[in-house]
Amino acid sequence: VTLAVSAGPCRYPKLQYSRAFVNLVLVGFGNVARAFVRLLDDRARCPEVLDPPQARVVGIATARHGCIVGPDGIDAEAAAALIEAGERLHALQPAGIATPRDTLDTIARAAALDRRVPLVMIETTRLDVRDGEPAATHVRAALTAGAHVITANKGPIACAWPALRDLAARHRRHLLFEGVVMDGIPVFNLVRETLPALTVTRLRGIVNTTTNFLIAALEEGRSFDDALEEMQARGIAESDATLDVDGWDAAAKAAALANVLMDAGITPMMVDRTGVGGLTAGDARAARDAGGRLKLLMEVRREGGRVLARVSPQRLTAADVLATANGTMNALTISTDRLGDITVVQHGGSLVETAYALLSDLVTLRRRIVRDSESA
Ligand SMILES: NC(=O)c1ccc[n+]([C@@H]2O[C@H](COP(=O)([O-])OP(=O)(O)OC[C@H]3O[C@@H](n4cnc5c(N)ncnc54)[C@H](OP(=O)(O)O)[C@@H]3O)[C@@H](O)[C@H]2O)c1
Repeated sequence: VTLAVSAGPCRYPKLQYSRAFVNLVLVGFGNVARAFVRLLDDRARCPEVLDPPQARVVGIATARHGCIVGPDGIDAEAAAALIEAGERLHALQPAGIATPRDTLDTIARAAALDRRVPLVMIETTRLDVRDGEPAATHVRAALTAGAHVITANKGPIACAWPALRDLAARHRRHLLFEGVVMDGIPVFNLVRETLPALTVTRLRGIVNTTTNFLIAALEEGRSFDDALEEMQARGIAESDATLDVDGWDAAAKAAALANVLMDAGITPMMVDRTGVGGLTAGDARAARDAGGRLKLLMEVRREGGRVLARVSPQRLTAADVLATANGTMNALTISTDRLGDITVVQHGGSLVETAYALLSDLVTLRRRIVRDSESA
């Protein structure tokens, strides 16, 4: 079953050698990946979309719900419904085609299906801030097998960026990751596409939605546990919520930003980190009563030839643009040597925004593949 169909005449007939423009293998099929397949389907059916993504899912790998491959496409909506009903995916494995053994086998089998159709791995497994695994291994396996990679997982970019960047270049494949920081709001794209010939000198931001929401809830007199439960129910908190509360998620974002935008070569373990677990309603209210706001602030700066990163609760003055990032808002100030400060604000993050990041990377990838094929 084709997940997404063309909503208009193909503008790239040279590449129209299959029903799908790209095949997708979804490694991880949790909140984000399920929101992504639904958004992909929605956008592909929407007649106003100028650049409809044509893609079909040919493989899905999970940790506890099994793995499947289908050369003619997998009904991703049916797969999402199975997962949401707490069932395994095996019922969707086409008859006569062996079920993949595990995640790496799923990637290898998807890569072997039809080498004329580009394969893209969408990596959305859980975050591990220590070494970026298992995602980094999945990224290596996909690139080596000839697949392009799109990920919303901070781990590989925060822990293994230079090696993965070089591996992608060696295999002439693309590695995109806009969803790693601030979901679909352009951050990496903004710098890469629109800020040439500038040096990023400093980064400052509110980049973790869950902790920003928790601090706002404390200000309003709500309990910490109640607010955290709401973030979990909305699918925004990490499955292991200590990653948010202890500042690890923000540290991983700091490392990813520092590595990609400032060539820092750091990991989340090298970020000076304090979480929000020790904060009380009194702390949050005292900051507000003094005319400021308490925020979990991420800071990355150059000092003496090194790049230093820190995540910690800070009292910001009302005049600080980052102090206006309330509740589920995120904000990032990118300081540059010739254009001063540029602040990007995200008004509310949800799974749709993260799914959009994956979708926008898919459109970017499609353009790059067309460009590559034209220059070949
Ligand atoms: N949620 C957000 O708002 C958000 C925003 C930006 C970025 N992210 C990032 O996106 C990623 C996914 O988030 P999520 O909320 O979708 O997480 P999630 O709901 O916990 O889903 C994780 C998925 O990964 C699968 N998985 C874990 N280990 C695996 C392995 N070794 N091989 C194959 N599959 C494996 C899980 O399978 P089982 O279900 O079978 O265990 C599950 O399907 C995380 O890295 C997160 O940091 C999330």
